[in-house]
Amino acid sequence: MTSGRSAPEPVTAVFESAGSWLPAGLNSVERCLLQAVESDGPLTPDAVATLKAGGKRMRPMLVLLCAGPDGAEAAIQRAVAVEMIHMASLVHDDVLDRAPLRRGRPTVFAQSGRERATVLGDRLFATAFALLAEEGDGVAISELSETAVDLARGELMQRRGAFDVSLPEQDYLERCRLKTGRLFAAACLLGRSTVSQEQSGAMQSFGHRIGLAFQMLDDVLDVSGPVERTGKARGTDLLDGTVTLPLIAAIAAEPELAETDLRGLEEESAAELCDRIEATGALEAVRQRAMILIDEAKSGISAAGLEEEQLRLLELIADGVVLRYS
Ligand code: FPP
Ligand code: MG
Repeated sequence: MTSGRSAPEPVTAVFESAGSWLPAGLNSVERCLLQAVESDGPLTPDAVATLKAGGKRMRPMLVLLCAGPDGAEAAIQRAVAVEMIHMASLVHDDVLDRAPLRRGRPTVFAQSGRERATVLGDRLFATAFALLAEEGDGVAISELSETAVDLARGELMQRRGAFDVSLPEQDYLERCRLKTGRLFAAACLLGRSTVSQEQSGAMQSFGHRIGLAFQMLDDVLDVSGPVERTGKARGTDLLDGTVTLPLIAAIAAEPELAETDLRGLEEESAAELCDRIEATGALEAVRQRAMILIDEAKSGISAAGLEEEQLRLLELIADGVVLRYS
């Protein structure tokens, strides 16, 4: 990639195994992302820092992989727009969470303040749609605007359920589908526009499943840490009042944990709660569930009518979601 950051393992594996069309496409995505934020005046330093902070570019990679060698070039703006919406949502998420760190670096919120972070998120979000509008890409605009609504609904669900240790598992899963699965599914769908309903359904399900697995494993990592690996303090979700599957599963295994008052947590007690959750075996149980989703994603994608190479690379991506956490 052009940004100079070293690619994380799942990405390297896909790169090494793909034809040159994929790295070339992702380089174009990287260039377009940079170009789109370079002329943002006072917002540019924060935007560039956000771009260069890392990120696996999984979503644009999914767009390009689903587009395939013959369609990747035409799908670049869609891939850029998907990544920009993802970045916008993270910048806003960090404002809402008052998060000090993301990917081990100060967030825009911490570095430049609430106002600038809010405006940068808005700007990235608007730019994503402006790029698609420039291309007259009504299909992508429609899909991504519905996706953005779902992201916001997922985020709202998270706020509404905050500190509620009796949160039902179904609510957690729905929230994850909305806030994470939906954008992964949109990325897969946007790679290809002219396919049958069955094929687009298969691509969407693939995205949803790996997105859900990704979120579950992210939630496991929040409990297991360590900070060097996650770039944020252990138990950050708990401290924010965000009830995730590891806690829900731990409560099912050890009902006394339902007495926990998340509002009273501090860094030390959050770390102790993480240890208690881990001791119930909940982290392993959630990992297993994520693995099942990955297996389902891999077997379901065969109905998407893709070429052999695309299928193989998408399976590698799915494995990469798990590998990253093993
Ligand atoms: C990160 O997840 C956050 C999201 C996946 C979605 C955030 C969505 C919004 C802020 C609302 C919509 C915004 C736009 C611009 C469409 P996480 O909090 O579980 O993970 P983290 O630990 O990385 O913060
Ligand atoms: Mg967050």
